[in-house]
Amino acid sequence: MAKKNLTILGIESSCDETAAAVLQVTNNQLLITSNIVSSQVKIHAQYGGIVPEVAARKHAENIIVVLQQALKSKKFNLKDVDAIAVTKGPGLITSLLVGVEAAKALAFVTKKPLIPVNHLAGHIYANWLSPICASTKSEILNPKQFFPAVCLVVSGGHTELVLMKDFEKFEKIGQTLDDAAGECFDKAAKILGLGYPGGPAIAAEAAKLPITNAKLPITLPRPMINSGDFNFSFSGLKTAVLYKAQKMSKLEIKKYLPEFCAEIQQSIIDVLIAKTIKAAQKFNVKSIILGGGVVANHELRRQFEEKVKREIPNSLLFIPNSKLCTDNAAMIAVAGYFKLKETLKKDWQKEFDWRKIKVDPNLEI
Ligand code: KG4
Ligand code: ZN
Repeated sequence: MAKKNLTILGIESSCDETAAAVLQVTNNQLLITSNIVSSQVKIHAQYGGIVPEVAARKHAENIIVVLQQALKSKKFNLKDVDAIAVTKGPGLITSLLVGVEAAKALAFVTKKPLIPVNHLAGHIYANWLSPICASTKSEILNPKQFFPAVCLVVSGGHTELVLMKDFEKFEKIGQTLDDAAGECFDKAAKILGLGYPGGPAIAAEAAKLPITNAKLPITLPRPMINSGDFNFSFSGLKTAVLYKAQKMSKLEIKKYLPEFCAEIQQSIIDVLIAKTIKAAQKFNVKSIILGGGVVANHELRRQFEEKVKREIPNSLLFIPNSKLCTDNAAMIAVAGYFKLKETLKKDWQKEFDWRKIKVDPNLEI
């Protein structure tokens, strides 16, 4: 394994996206050579949210096709792959099992190392793949330039602040006590009769409003914004949306839908930005790293850039390319690469034996 150039196959199936990607590492440059994502969004939209049993069945139907496409798109052969990285957790257990068992079968046949990856670490490492926003230009920079960092991971199931002292050195400093930010977007959208997933639907409605400093006719709370710690809570916001909607007629909801959505979005953005900046100040970090599906939100990205520039101008801000914020396997491959790199110093053969890998739906970072 003492190779300088590596090819890593990434596999992701933790929720409702079946994904496979090939990552090539050449002289410390990371290049995604294929990145296939088969989304089940349309199927789950009929039910207003993810149905785990349906998700697992679809993963089982799709996984081989997705793997075949990922390898075929650049005429890769399995024998060209040096290691396989797969999401071990957190996620839906039956969905995770499909990706992990497929990865085990491949590792068994090819006798290649199988690297178990934490999905949330994958969201963070997506930043090493995004030449657009991350000023890293996809190169593996000297860590001294951006560590320690505060990472905000905001997805459908998680809202966490993580202190990252180096590659593979994660320490959770805060998390949601109830609903995640993405979950709040999804549930609020459901209350307002918008489709699933709720985040993009709410963002699209909010975008219909011209950007002004004018006060919105609907106001919602900013839960725990001044709590003094780095935890979050979004279930109260969801309930506030429900109570507001119950007091309005259908016609009023329709009339004020962009205002309503803009306020939901702004409430979530305000809390996420305030807590992240406070954490960055407290831990005196060099950079802020964002990741997870909610980071695809245009307003969140714009306001983060604005606030970081204004309030902590000496900090770097890393935001992945929007397409790499939502679930994909390229981020799993790159997370696998860093794990492999760190573990190579130790006993990697023992560590990455496929027989040892078990899914963990509640895996913590
Ligand atoms: O990371 P992700 O793709 O899957 C999980 O790991 O959960 O995140 C999915 C979440 C959903 O809650 C979805 O509504 C939210 O990300 N999301 C957004 C946007 N795009 C996806 N939220 C706000 N604005 C968006 N543009
Ligand atoms: Zn995710």
